[in-house]
Amino acid sequence: MTTSAELTGHSVLVVGTGGIARRTAQSARDAGADVVLAGRDPGRTASAAAAAGARPETVDLSDEGSIAALAGRLGRVDHVVNLAAAPANGPLRDLGHAALVRAFDAKVFGPALLAGRLDIGRSLTLFSGFIAWRPAAERVAMATANGATAFLAQALAVELAPVRVNAISPGVVDSGSWDGLGAAKEGFLAATAERNPARRSGTVDDLAQAALFAMTNPFLTATTLHVDGGGRFA
Ligand SMILES: NC(=O)c1ccc[n+]([C@@H]2O[C@H](COP(=O)([O-])OP(=O)(O)OC[C@H]3O[C@@H](n4cnc5c(N)ncnc54)[C@H](OP(=O)(O)O)[C@@H]3O)[C@@H](O)[C@H]2O)c1
Repeated sequence: MTTSAELTGHSVLVVGTGGIARRTAQSARDAGADVVLAGRDPGRTASAAAAAGARPETVDLSDEGSIAALAGRLGRVDHVVNLAAAPANGPLRDLGHAALVRAFDAKVFGPALLAGRLDIGRSLTLFSGFIAWRPAAERVAMATANGATAFLAQALAVELAPVRVNAISPGVVDSGSWDGLGAAKEGFLAATAERNPARRSGTVDDLAQAALFAMTNPFLTATTLHVDGGGRFA
């Protein structure tokens, strides 16, 4: 990705091993940053970090001890981006307390704890999602966790000022997380593109570019960037 963002001399922590996390870490690295990529599975974290040119670290956002330990190992970090998500989709009657807590741990509780423990120098960027603004059947947990993420960003922006805190809300992005659809994935992405006002589905570059913008624009805080092709209105 070509970017005009300049992060030379800055340290960046990216949490998550998915496609958007990998591309965000790589783009921050390309912009000159010293990048740490943290995940909970050692194998997936090592390969994602290697692909992005980042240093691997360990964190489980559902574990307060793991969060505190990461904060202790890292010391001061200029920019933090959380891309962790633990989807809990399906019929409401099957939705248990544990799945709801996992969804909120990854997007809301874990990032709130991380923000309280870590010495963040410049910015924190959280990842929400369009489903909060366009509810759909069997998506209650993620709609609510993503909505809470946007409100967490604005609350933290006031609490942590002058550290800037924002949320990014992606639409459907071909990040690898839809690969479970198998042969149906291409049709799903094409149908999404047909409906979206932007007439396309998202790429990991679209979102990495937004994450770098959130890291580097000094007047952007307490807001949610909807990088969703208008999908919340489709
Ligand atoms: N892709 C889309 O279409 C889309 C749409 C709307 C919103 N978003 C949001 O954009 C962000 C990135 O999406 P993506 O598709 O690139 O990601 P993804 O493939 O869904 O990856 C999610 C990541 O979260 C990690 N994770 C889950 N629970 C965790 C925990 N307790 N502690 C630490 N890590 C944890 C997973 O780790 P493991 O590998 O260990 O499971 C995985 O690396 C997410 O917040 C997602 O909800 C994406």
